[in-house]
Amino acid sequence: MVQKNTQIQSLTDLLQTMWLDYCDLNPAARRIYDLFTAEGEQVLNDHIALRTFNHPKLGIQSLARAFEKFGYKKMEQEYFFKEKKLYARHWEHPDSTLPKIFISELELEKVSPFVRDTITSLIEKLPTSLIDSDSFSLSGRPWEMDYSLYSKLAEESEYASWVAAWGFRPNHFTVNVNALKKFNDLPTLNQFIESKGYKLNASGGVIKGTPEQFLIQSSTMASEIPCKFSDGSHHIPGCYYEFAKRYALPNGKMYQGFVAASADKIFESTNRQK
Ligand code: NI
Repeated sequence: MVQKNTQIQSLTDLLQTMWLDYCDLNPAARRIYDLFTAEGEQVLNDHIALRTFNHPKLGIQSLARAFEKFGYKKMEQEYFFKEKKLYARHWEHPDSTLPKIFISELELEKVSPFVRDTITSLIEKLPTSLIDSDSFSLSGRPWEMDYSLYSKLAEESEYASWVAAWGFRPNHFTVNVNALKKFNDLPTLNQFIESKGYKLNASGGVIKGTPEQFLIQSSTMASEIPCKFSDGSHHIPGCYYEFAKRYALPNGKMYQGFVAASADKIFESTNRQK
């Protein structure tokens, strides 16, 4: 597991360390990546998604800081997820082969007093030095908690319980489908993934979005993996792997933003499977 005091020297370092942490935690993502490379594909990432809470100490900006230091720019488009009580923004790097960074936050003023008070008390224990470090986006869970608290949070907000349990780390990496050769088409790619025994998120249909929205996406369901709680290890949903194909805007430029209605369903990839 990646150490919390990892020294981040460069953007390559930051992105690579995040990838290794993500693969460590989610062997299924690594196996799917390996399936593509075994087929002769070079896998580029379309984006990496991070999750947080809109507490004054934290928020989207606290996770974005290290990326901005390494040249990422905050884009103007805003994303609202009314039902899930989330707000999100995304960052792009001048080098378009680098992944976009998509950061969402749970709007604590909109959740129940129980969720708000629980999350606030966890955050208050966070040392500022951790939030300020360049490795904050891969630092993992910085607080102790037990499994019953996780379960209670999950009853109201799967998102709150996920961040409380896993802390600050990539929620998913996303394969840039346009950059693939054999699997350049999302239905073909989905069929390939399913034929290898992986379950795709079917909420709202396997493919989210339409070419008219300039972005279509699919994702695996996060497998349940062991998470250490103060009262022992329990299996809970970890991270998922996503696949994104983009289309050109009428001006000929590839659309680089996101589609809130599609992302809304993709968020459910970390829901517990019945
Ligand atoms: Ni995504």
